[in-house]
Amino acid sequence: MSGKEKEVTETSEAEIAVHWAEEDFIYPPASFIAQANVTDPSVYDRFSLENFPNCFKEYADLLTWYEYWHTTLDTSDAPCWKWFVGGKINASYNCIDRHLAKNKNKTAIHFVSEVETEKIEHITYQELYVRVNEFAAILRDFCGLKAGDTVTLHMPMVAELPITMLACARLGIIHSQVFGGFSGKACADRIVDSGSHVLITMDAYYRSGQLIDHKEKADTAVAEVAKENQKVDKVLVWQRYPGKYSAQTPMVEGRDFFVNELLKKYYGTRIDPVPMPAEAVLFLMYTSGTTGKPKGAQHSTGGYLAYVAGTSKYVQDIHPEDVYWCMADIGWITGHSYIVYGPLAICASTVIYEGVPTYPDPGRPWRIAQDLDVNIFHTAPTAIRALRKLGPDEPAKYNYHFKHMTTVGEPIEPAVWKWYYHAVGKGEAAICDTWWQTENGGFLCSTMPAIKAMKPGSAGPGVPGIHPIVYDNDGNVVPDGSGKAGNICIQNPWPGSFQTIWRDRDRYVSQYYEKYCKDPNSKRWQDWPYLTGDAAVVAADGYARILGRIDDVINVSGHRLGTKELESAAMTVAEVAEAAVVPVKHEIKGVEPDMYIALKPGISASEELAKKISQAIVTEIGAIARPRNVWIVPDMPKTRSGKIMRRVLGAISNNTDVGDVMTLANPEIVVEITKMVQGK
Ligand code: WT7
Repeated sequence: MSGKEKEVTETSEAEIAVHWAEEDFIYPPASFIAQANVTDPSVYDRFSLENFPNCFKEYADLLTWYEYWHTTLDTSDAPCWKWFVGGKINASYNCIDRHLAKNKNKTAIHFVSEVETEKIEHITYQELYVRVNEFAAILRDFCGLKAGDTVTLHMPMVAELPITMLACARLGIIHSQVFGGFSGKACADRIVDSGSHVLITMDAYYRSGQLIDHKEKADTAVAEVAKENQKVDKVLVWQRYPGKYSAQTPMVEGRDFFVNELLKKYYGTRIDPVPMPAEAVLFLMYTSGTTGKPKGAQHSTGGYLAYVAGTSKYVQDIHPEDVYWCMADIGWITGHSYIVYGPLAICASTVIYEGVPTYPDPGRPWRIAQDLDVNIFHTAPTAIRALRKLGPDEPAKYNYHFKHMTTVGEPIEPAVWKWYYHAVGKGEAAICDTWWQTENGGFLCSTMPAIKAMKPGSAGPGVPGIHPIVYDNDGNVVPDGSGKAGNICIQNPWPGSFQTIWRDRDRYVSQYYEKYCKDPNSKRWQDWPYLTGDAAVVAADGYARILGRIDDVINVSGHRLGTKELESAAMTVAEVAEAAVVPVKHEIKGVEPDMYIALKPGISASEELAKKISQAIVTEIGAIARPRNVWIVPDMPKTRSGKIMRRVLGAISNNTDVGDVMTLANPEIVVEITKMVQGK
């Protein structure tokens, strides 16, 4: 076994994945096909490997360029790919200004408050233009920010979030939005890594009926950043209710500023969009990996925008007259690509919902869909499972009609898929199971909705221009239809892909390309297959079934968490000697983390200590990372060389066969832990 392979975790999601039976095809409704953007199967020929990379001109041409590019793909710095080189473009201009001539009165954003009695806000393209310009003036003239600077956003799901992002993009400022549910500490780590000196936040937001103090997290973040000898100079605070402060935490004189007050000075200001090179960085999106430190996926302006515009039009089938709702959070890549940049680039109306899908009851999404006449709906299996469990018959009570639905973020069980199709979609919608990652910018595998039949439980083939390949651990190709799982890779680069890990090119190369690189000195893209880190089985028809992560990542409710991050959070508790986390199957969340702890000598286990460890994880990372349980065990199962056997812990947590444990240094502990966890 090579050193590289040893990195692969012993209890991966792929290992606990259920191998669902192969399902029959379901064909898209004729009514969908009749209106679809792409109905001609020749799209796959246009985007074949023979036509690579020039095929992606089709996506670049959906955008408006200040200067047209001269080179489609520059591979001279492989594997850091450059797309549309020579081009000059502005993302804010493409998402707003260019739509004004024909569509200024059209709704760009429908903002739906979690509070159902509050009026839905309809922001036209003209209003978006005004608000983005005025906020850009604050960034430039009050904060002194310019193209190439980074800014951290820690905002909830409100219209001010895309306004802030688009204002940054207007000036070429690199935004780094941190998921609002992350803790102040997690936000601080990302501020430090990105090198931001300005933090943009909101005072409060609604979650499950509570108006939560969010400004509090900014104070924690700034204090934590100071410990790393970095300074946040300014904290800009949007108000959930303009003119009223909804947080308890006091504002810090000279550091914290209410956006609403600053705006008064900039009413009517217009800021020219800055023409940026296609390769300029548009934003950073932090994601978890195999080491404890989150990595900033660095996304480009031209390539990224072209890819999300193209896939929004072709895969999600968004037409200008559609009302499109993606229920993800903008704090994740799905929200960046498919709530903000993709839909706005093609002049759609996009819905932003502040709160929890099942609040105040599981009929809520269907009322929103009915009232706004939403016809494209995009969500994750975890939300579908929760809505199905709490309100299986709710969708039928409301008068809405989806033509297209998407699922993203984790594998979806065929039974859940079928409820989504029949109950939510009323059998009228085409479903796209879209498989991709933070690093990718946009979809990798999915059916093309009017061309390919759906297969519950399978994402589908590569979307046009994406050419997947499955390798075994030794680098042999696992052929389609072999029934064998392997590591799914992509043979070719594509415009939406991240450029590198922010300030860490070595990690970019080693984590995503080294394993199957055919020649590290090569400048040919053919020699650099991209390793996704997922295991998959590809059927003879080319449809991929994704089994989950093969590395030290746990995908909880579609949120990627690094096991090392969770373990080091637990280790911040002084009494903890060792921590090991494993994924365990969960009815709604897909998987959730189960935390095993061994204490330092002389310290005894208690309920309070377990709570303290759980709380430490919430403080360090956020509530989404809260473990199912903290098991304080007398000792960890270990190999003779002293390695913790996560495979054994994973089997115990999942009630599966622990296999042969006789070679362990302490086999008797397995019986003891099993008794503790399974009660037998
Ligand atoms: C990981 C990426 C960008 C999407 C949001 C999550 C898993 C994602 C699917 C799907 C099965 C999926 C993979 C992937 N995943 N979509 N349709 N079917 N698994 O982005 O946080 O970067 O997580 O999510 O394991 O590697 P992310």
